[in-house]
This record gives sequence, C-alpha cells and structure tokens, in this order.
Amino acid sequence: MRASSVPAPPTRRLLAAAGSTAYRRLARPALWRLDAERAHHATLVAADLLGRVAPTRALVAATGYAVPPARPVDLLGLRFDHRIGLAAGMDKDGRAVPTWVALGLGHVELGTVTARAQPGNPRPRMVRLPESAAVINRMGFNNEGVHALARRLRDARRAGLVRIPVGVSIGKSKVTPVEEAVPDYLASVAALDGLADYLAVNVSSPNTPGLRSLQDAEPLRALLTAVVRAAGDVPVLVKLAPDLTRSALEEAVGVGLDAGVAGFVATNTTLARGGVAPGEMALANGQTGGLSGAPLTVRAREVVGQVRSLTDLPLIGVGGVMTGADAAALVDAGADLVQLYTGLVYAGPALVAEAVAATIGDARWG
Ligand code: FNR
Repeated sequence: MRASSVPAPPTRRLLAAAGSTAYRRLARPALWRLDAERAHHATLVAADLLGRVAPTRALVAATGYAVPPARPVDLLGLRFDHRIGLAAGMDKDGRAVPTWVALGLGHVELGTVTARAQPGNPRPRMVRLPESAAVINRMGFNNEGVHALARRLRDARRAGLVRIPVGVSIGKSKVTPVEEAVPDYLASVAALDGLADYLAVNVSSPNTPGLRSLQDAEPLRALLTAVVRAAGDVPVLVKLAPDLTRSALEEAVGVGLDAGVAGFVATNTTLARGGVAPGEMALANGQTGGLSGAPLTVRAREVVGQVRSLTDLPLIGVGGVMTGADAAALVDAGADLVQLYTGLVYAGPALVAEAVAATIGDARWG
C-alpha cells in the first residue's frame, strides 16, 4: 500500500481499533475452537490464499493494519520501512510472503527450515495458555525442507511480490548427528543462494535434541565461521536462547563476533515456566517445549539489553511483545528491529500497526 493511499492517522487508529475488536470477538474465538496447531494451519492457509491474487492482497492492505513506509531503518545493508517484523516459526515454509507484506510487516523471517524435509515431533505439540497469554510449543522443526522454501521464495521474488527484507532461519535436520551439523547447515545456505536477504542461524530451539549445545563456544565457532564464509555477502545473524546464563551469553556473543556474524537475534522460546498464571502452572509444567508470549517479555528485554551491552552490531529483539509498549521497551533496551509471534495470536494483526506506531517515535504515524 502506498503512503498516499493510506488513511490519515485518526482513521487508521479507528480502523486498527475496529480490527482489533473484530479479531478478539470474531476471528479469535473461531480459531480457538480448534486446537492450537490446527488454528495455526488455518491461519496459514488463509494467509496463503489471500496473498495469491492482487484483489485479495489489496483487501488485506485495506484493513487499516498496513503501515506506510515511515521512518526507514537502514541495517544489515538493507532498508526496512519500519522496525516491526514477523518472527521465525510462523511461516516455516515461506507460504504467505505476499500477505505478510500486505499486512504491513516491515520484514519477515521465514523458517526455520532444515536441509531435509521432516515431520517434526508427534502431535499435540503446541498448547495455548490463555490466562497467561502464552504458548508452549515443541514442534521440532516440522518443515518441507529448504528446497521447497527456496522454490516458493524464488517464485514470489520473480512475481515482484517481495517488497520487504526476507530473512530465512536455518536449523539442523533431526537425522543429522549434532557433530555433523556444519555440512547440514551449509546445505541450506547453498540452497538459499541469492534468495535470502539475511540468514538466521538457529542454535536455540529447545525442540531438536542437542541443538542448543551448538551454542557452546567451540561448536558455535566452527558452525558460524563456516556459515559466514559460505554466505558470502549475505548477512548472517545468530539467534540465541533466553536460558543462557550471563557468562554463556557473553561467550556466545564473543564467538559470534570472532566468526564475523552481522548481528544477533534475541530471543528464542524459554524452557523456564516463570510468569505462567497459577491456574495454568500444572499444565505448563506438564508440557515439554519452549514457552513464548507474556511470560517471556521481561527476560527477552533483559537479554536484549545484555547483548546490546556487548556489541553495537544489529540486534533483532523478539519475545513477549504483546503490545506496542512492549515493542518500544525492546527498542529502548537496544533492539534495532522487533519481531512478533505469540502477540499476534492473542492480539491479532492490529498489533503490527500498534507496534509500528509505538516504535517510530513520530506522531504522524501514531
Ligand atoms: C517459534 N519460534 C521459532 N523460532 C525459530 O527461530 N525457529 C522456529 O522454527 C520457531 N518456531 C516456533 C513455533 C512456534 C509455534 C512458536 C510459538 C515459536 C520462536 C519465535 O520465533 C520467537 O522467538 C518466540 O516465540 C518468542 O517470541 P514471542 O512468541 O513471545 O513473541
């Protein structure tokens, strides 16, 4: 949507408020009748269909969520219309990029994909904790493999539908032993040649056995050095877990800097269960997997602040952004860009406009 065709701020505020109410009163109850994974699947199918032709893309853009290019942010050699993007895991296979663009997102991180297609963990593997405004997932990198994503991204680029930076998160195939992780990641780097605006090396998902051990200094050094070299001009970021101690975080950031990464993403989901509502604690303690959403807000902010104290490199903040104020707090803590996931499940797509408005610091767009 072009700036000139975007409604004035008061109209946009009204549209966003109406959209937010519509999401909470209509779409969310309908989706929440389904279990969490089916609801996610239904959302992706709808997003994929809506993105296929120009009239429905225009319809999405006309909801009032779409935010005009406002205060561009130059980072990683790329230009972002604003600071707010979509976190990895929402669109693992790159099915709906045109719809994310139409919704007004400033960037998208697709994936995590792995070199080989894989089914992920047995279901159920995603649980909502509504009282806590949280989700626990143990998906385990279910994805169609890097080649399927590469094909979709190539098609979308050829069709001229990718007007925002698109990063791709890469992970290790489950069947590949952790000692052989490097060639597995490199296969994904090669398959994405010329397609990803940045690569995010995922060593922080709790749901692939052994993956987080790749955050230890020596395996991390070997992995990042190899990926940075293979990626050539494409910036490589590394996504970190919120469960690292301060010294482990310092070590991981130091290794990343030595290896020549372009930046960091903080954070992935947490294994901790703090911040869950008392009435949902038993459920949460009985579920393996990573917790996201409101219980993660404060910890993600803390880790972003710690990473920022260690480096001036580009930093993407993610974790528990449920409101515009949460997004602004991550920027205040040192994030250059902010990503959304669980907040969208609870607040709906109007959160994009709210978060953009809160992080632009320019009243014209509020
Ligand atoms: C995720 N996340 C994630 N991260 C990642 O790097 N690769 C992935 O494949 C996934 N998959 C995934 C699936 C589901 C169902 C959820 C809820 C999350 C983590 C996500 O990108 C983000 O880091 C965390 O969810 C924290 O942000 P929110 O959700 O609290 O805003």
